[in-house]
Amino acid sequence: MARSKVTIVGAGNVGATCAHWIAGKELADVVLVDIVEGMASGKALDLGQAGPVMHFDIALSGSVDYDATAESDLVVITAGVPRRKDPVTGDYPSRDDLVRTNQGIVGEVTRRVAQLSPDAILLVVSNPLDAMCHVVLEESGFPSQRVVGQAGALDTARYKAFIAQELGVSVRDVHGMVLGGHGDTMVPLPRHTSVAGIPVRELMDEETLQAIIERTRQGGGEIVGLLGYSGFYAPSAGTVEMVEAILRDRKRVIPSAVLLNGEYGIEGLYVGVPAVLGAGGVERIIEMQLNDEERAMLEHSAAAVRSVVDVLGY
Ligand code: NAI
Ligand code: 2OP
Repeated sequence: MARSKVTIVGAGNVGATCAHWIAGKELADVVLVDIVEGMASGKALDLGQAGPVMHFDIALSGSVDYDATAESDLVVITAGVPRRKDPVTGDYPSRDDLVRTNQGIVGEVTRRVAQLSPDAILLVVSNPLDAMCHVVLEESGFPSQRVVGQAGALDTARYKAFIAQELGVSVRDVHGMVLGGHGDTMVPLPRHTSVAGIPVRELMDEETLQAIIERTRQGGGEIVGLLGYSGFYAPSAGTVEMVEAILRDRKRVIPSAVLLNGEYGIEGLYVGVPAVLGAGGVERIIEMQLNDEERAMLEHSAAAVRSVVDVLGY
């Protein structure tokens, strides 16, 4: 069977770590692309030299141009700039300026990869995530089943990790989901959270649970506060979980940023909800029954996403 081919655009922290884990799992041959000369080729060379030791056997390459990306099965888009203080003025760019800057970067990247890999599934990671999904959908012209964003896999992983740590149980036994946009309006679902099937509220008092929910909402910022830049191990793990589900046609149910067309009462907006991921990309959106409080939180989150998407001017 021919090996799958994955292109990762942006060979920075998230992109390179995705390559690392795709290699470790031997999921696909990987092409890294970055705008910085030597960045993608250097990291691909370095990672490839780990193969004989770590026993992975895939083809890895890196480049500044896109020719080598042709006929990819899946493209992970991590290119973008973070929200960074201007070293001269000390000012931060406004949210809207940052959205427009990354819209330009992600838009250009999308047009290039879409032209060379017209049948690929596009997995968006660049922030602001939900808005960048709209950019990729618009610029690729692909059907929404083949444009999906990673955020819920990461937010859910953080939520589960905090619960496992608090209870002193294996992360393997914690089940749950975080929906909504990728930001502090995200929607963890304690009513659907369990430890080996035992409802989490039987194991933890409400105050502790709410503290975990809040910590999850601030999970990205907590790491930025420690490192000075954003996390990349867990973001890459969430991304590779989705890559594996798609390439191996696993039909995994993973909270993913998908285009809603009326599901959950939301129209024409990328928001994180449970989706079945397989060879076709987003094969199905699962509309779960939410109570009034959960639905209100999801609507609030969708409104926050909409306010960013409006900046794009589509
Ligand atoms: P990074 O700064 O380490 O890497 C970004 C890379 O993109 C850099 O190597 C840069 O040279 C490259 N790049 C910039 N413009 C490009 C272009 N036009 N073409 C090709 N490459 C280009 O950043 P990091 O930590 O890897 O994060 C990447 C993106 O992912 C950011 O937007 C970040 O906010 C986002 N992110 C999203 C998460 C999620 O859950 N959706 C989680 C973590 C990060
Ligand atoms: C995170 O949640 C910043 O989106 C990034 O870590």
